[in-house]
Amino acid sequence: MDKLIKSAFLDRKEKIPFGTDSYRVFDGQSDGIKNVYIDNFADHWLVSYNDVLPPLDLDDGPFKKSIWIKELKHEGKAAPKCVYGDSKLSNIVITENNSLFEIDFSSGYSQGLFLDQRDNRSEIKKISKDKKVLNCFSYTCGFSVMAALGGAKSTTSIDLSRGYLDWGKRNFTLNNIDCSDHFFCKGDVFRWLKQFKQKGRQYDIIILDPPSFSRDGKKGTFSVVKDYSHLIELSAKLVEPMGWILACTNHKKYKHQAFLDSIELGVNSARKKIIGTHSMPMPFDFSGENYLKSIWVQIS
Ligand SMILES: C[S@@+](CC[C@H](N)C(=O)[O-])C[C@H]1O[C@@H](n2cnc3c(N)ncnc32)[C@H](O)[C@@H]1O
Repeated sequence: MDKLIKSAFLDRKEKIPFGTDSYRVFDGQSDGIKNVYIDNFADHWLVSYNDVLPPLDLDDGPFKKSIWIKELKHEGKAAPKCVYGDSKLSNIVITENNSLFEIDFSSGYSQGLFLDQRDNRSEIKKISKDKKVLNCFSYTCGFSVMAALGGAKSTTSIDLSRGYLDWGKRNFTLNNIDCSDHFFCKGDVFRWLKQFKQKGRQYDIIILDPPSFSRDGKKGTFSVVKDYSHLIELSAKLVEPMGWILACTNHKKYKHQAFLDSIELGVNSARKKIIGTHSMPMPFDFSGENYLKSIWVQIS
């Protein structure tokens, strides 16, 4: 195997938390090869690249069940292609902090779990005991599953996609969680937040991890830079006193200070006060660009 890749892999393998088989193996320039990123999903490797994939030697070394290649794009995003192993075995179960998640290489551009959110998911599990947790833009409900495993009183997951919510339900089932106190809402987050306000619902923890841009088909487009403070405002109105909002964005052009400012603006517009904030660094295996901003905000 390529020396640089082998050394990055062995370093991560040693440090990765017990009960976790999926992590970033190689993080571009910070590990010595620009524009190449490798993720290990339970011994199935996903190699993502920008522009041109340089020749890589992935052959010898640690046992790999399959290798998939994906071109990173803003437009015309496609599912990865299998270049080694059984391409029909695209659907697998991985383990993160002793919790199980379904991964699907053939499902499209994203494989079912964003590995860069591992530390936030772990934190959610730690603080969720007896809490009501609202997970907006839930995708396959990774945060909700961790909250439920941490003893949440209830979780509510909102996503535009019925398919992703069904995938989320399978993740609950994989972890033997009884779904009677776990709710799945299909549709636009902004509409649901307004409805919850009308119904007088309150939550102890609200998770906001939206895409940078999205289109809901009816209402128009969502842009993280334009709409984040409104999202915070609607959420802050639903937070119990002393509750938390986890506000995330992976939009590279959204600078840390501008992101903090829009959080503050949103909380002020909701006529609430920020008790404190802290920023969560990215997991250690994401050693390259610090693109994911995660701000934990406690509201009075
Ligand atoms: C980046 S993913 C979120 C990742 C997720 N928070 C996690 O940690 O796994 C974006 C998700 O937001 C959903 N989405 C996009 N726009 C939405 C909207 N306006 N309302 C609800 N869900 C939306 C997409 O369907 C997708 O599942």
